[in-house]
This record gives sequence, structure tokens and C-alpha cells, in this order.
Amino acid sequence: MSEAPSNAWTPGSWRTFPVRQQPPWPSRDALATVLRQVAALPPLVTSSEIAALKAQLADAASGSRFLLHGGDCAESFDQCCASPITNQLKILLQMSLVLTHASRRRVIRVGRFAGQYAKPRSDEVETREGQSLPSYRGDNVNRPEFTLEARTPDPSLLLRGYERSALTLNFIRALVDGGFADLHHPEQWNLDWVAHSPLAAEYTRMVDAIGQGLQFMETLAGVRVHQMQRVDFYTSHECLLLDLEEAQTRQVPRREGWWNLSTHFPWLGARTAKLAEAHVEYLSGIENPIGIKLSPTMDATELVALVHRLNPADEPGRITVIHRLGAHQVGSLLPRLIDAVEQAKLRVLWVCDPMHGNTETVTASTGSTLGRVKTRKFAHILAELEQAFEIHRSKGTVLGGVHFELTGENVTECTGGARGLGDGDLLRAYRTAVDPRLNYEQALEMALLVARRM
Ligand code: PEP
Ligand code: CO
Repeated sequence: MSEAPSNAWTPGSWRTFPVRQQPPWPSRDALATVLRQVAALPPLVTSSEIAALKAQLADAASGSRFLLHGGDCAESFDQCCASPITNQLKILLQMSLVLTHASRRRVIRVGRFAGQYAKPRSDEVETREGQSLPSYRGDNVNRPEFTLEARTPDPSLLLRGYERSALTLNFIRALVDGGFADLHHPEQWNLDWVAHSPLAAEYTRMVDAIGQGLQFMETLAGVRVHQMQRVDFYTSHECLLLDLEEAQTRQVPRREGWWNLSTHFPWLGARTAKLAEAHVEYLSGIENPIGIKLSPTMDATELVALVHRLNPADEPGRITVIHRLGAHQVGSLLPRLIDAVEQAKLRVLWVCDPMHGNTETVTASTGSTLGRVKTRKFAHILAELEQAFEIHRSKGTVLGGVHFELTGENVTECTGGARGLGDGDLLRAYRTAVDPRLNYEQALEMALLVARRM
């Protein structure tokens, strides 16, 4: 066998490139043992599912479908339980129903789940009252408690994370197969807010209208619309820990190429989106559709080069550009980025993430407790989305999806919305492991407001 040229892509070729955001594992041997175990386990998803999603994303890019991408900023191991998972599916289903109704497009549902266990961090260390410890990097790496033991990276957590991803996905697939997502029974998706929310009436009217429409169609056609009995969910996570991603990168019978079979849709985070570095090298060689987070630090030339590098054949559905520019900058930055991609005649799906450019840190208090927490204002999130829709409309391009950090739980992490949550409410139910999420009521309200603009 002849040796591959040194510049040929392999699942491990990223190792010869500069790399960011990899944990300082205390023992390479312990890491290698865990990676061998992960590599020997069955995959979480299949190449045919990945190919189906890619085709749907191509439809979204051309305007015939719409992407709803959402979930936790960071999943945590102790939230791998029936109720949080079910609630996450419910809120995504409700939002997708609202968006379908408004946009008259089929909605693709992609969760930030079943593997979103690793986080990039701006600071290597966190300092509290004079003590500095390694930053929390997600449950795949270390634990959030502020002790040296908890913060020391532990490779065995990668295996725990892989198992929890499988448990999560198994439960989601069973729910979907069991008719949980049947459009004939959207009342099954109700969270208990419905009884008392200011938005209940609008949502209920919409659901009733959809139910009547479906019934009318079925009466007319004399058949039951079976496609309405199930909807699919796809999984996604940030492609961050390259050792782990490599261990799950495989070839499959009867299909060309290498597939990351740990998730349908990996995305390139803003902190690792560098053309000549390891994350881009790794992603350039796999067949999955890829998201690229676009932050204000990336200019139009870099974006075009990155899209070329990751999609040299201009394959439809391959690249989703997820812009997260912030309500105050989207207006000045997005038009030029769109122009550059258009001029280069690159086929991408444009998606707006109105969360990550709108994070702020505030001091919050309840009673005697005082804390600095990260939060986001509902009004800023909505403002970025509205501007993004308008900019794409004026350029003649398609904003084909939205990306949210949200939860089906009743948390208080973002302020504003119909209930008027303020900074003083934040500590009441502030539970996120990293970034603040829209709670179920705010998430649904956001979908209703976006739907009105569509
Ligand atoms: C994220 O999506 O949680 C994240 C870290 O985003 P970004 O890379 O866009 O900052
Ligand atoms: Co986040």
C-alpha cells in the first residue's frame, strides 16, 4: 500500500494544524483509552438520516423549507431525564407549528441535543474571591462546581456523554415513533403554561385552525394524512472536542466518504472558525451538513474563504451560515457579508442566531442573595431577528431559519417578554450551565412574533 500524501485529509489530519479550545487532559493515555472505547461503540445516527437532512437544508436555502434550530446552550448530564427532554420536544414542536402556519413552509426541527456537552470558553480560568480554577467546559470535560477536583478535566466523562447522547436520542426516537409528534393531537404538546399565559388565546386559535384545516383536507380526500402522524427531529452539537469527533468519524457500506455519526449536524463555533486551523481541517473532510457561526470578528473575505474551503464543490445543503451579530451590529455588518457571498455565487443557507450577539452580564439579587449573571433581553433578541429578516428581504436573499437557546422549563434567565421578567427575577430560577435560555413561554412568544413578520 502506498502512503497517503501528507496533505491528504484523514479523520486525524487536524492534528497537524494549530488547534484551539481543547481541554488540558491530565493524562493522554487515559484519554486514548476512552477514545478507543467510544470508537468501538455503535453510532448514534445513520448516514441516510444525515443525507436526508442535507437535502432538506438545501430546500431551506432555496426557500421551500424553514429551519428551526434550538435547545440548551449546554446540555447537562443531570438533565438527561424524561421530563426535560419531553418539554424540549414540546416547545420545539409548538414553535415549529407556529412557524409552519405563518411561513407556509415545512419546518425542519434540529435540536441542540444528544451531544451538546462541550463548551468553548473565552477564559481558560475562572476567578472567584481570589481563587482561580480551570473554567467549566461542559459535562463532557469537567463539572461546574467551583472546586479543583470538579474542574479538572476527566476523559471518562466523554464516555458518560456518549452514553447520555444515546439515551436522549433513544427516548426521542421512541416518542416520535409512538405518535408523540402526531399533528392530529397537538394538545399533547401543551405545557402547563397554556392555562395562564397571556399568549394562550393566540396559540390556541392557531392550533384549532390547523386542526380544522387538517380535518377538512382529510374529509375532502377521504384519507388520513399519515405523514402528519410523525415529524422528525435531527440532532446537532458544536464540533469542538476534535479527539472525540474523530473517534466517531466512520465510513459506511455503499456510501462514499467519511461521516460523523455522533450527530446529524455539527457546527463550527465562532471561537474556532479559523481558516488554517484544526477545526476547519476536520470539518472539511466529513460528509455531514455543517453550520458556521458567524460573529462580528469575521469579515466578508474570511467568510467567503471559509465557505470555499468547506464546500469546494458548492454542494447544496452543505453549508449553513448562522449569523450571530447582535441587535446593535447586524444592520451595519450583515449587508456586506451577504453581498460577498452572493458575489462569490456560493450556495448557503442563511440562519439568524439572535442569542449569542446579545449576551450581557448584570448584577441580580433576590432577597439577600446577590450574583453576577449572564442574561439576554427579549427585546434585543427580537430586534436582531426583525432586522435580519428585513435585510435579507431587501437583498433578495432568503433567511431560511432561526437558531435559539431555549428550554421547555420555566426558568428565569432572559429578561422581558409578555410576563415582563426583570433583572430582579433572574435568580429565582436561573439554572443554565452556561448561557441564558428563553424559557418556554418566551420561546413560544418569540415564535408567534416572528410568525407575524413572516
Ligand atoms: C453556542 O452556540 O453556544 C456558542 C458558543 O456560540 P458561538 O460559537 O456563536 O459563540
Ligand atoms: Co451558548
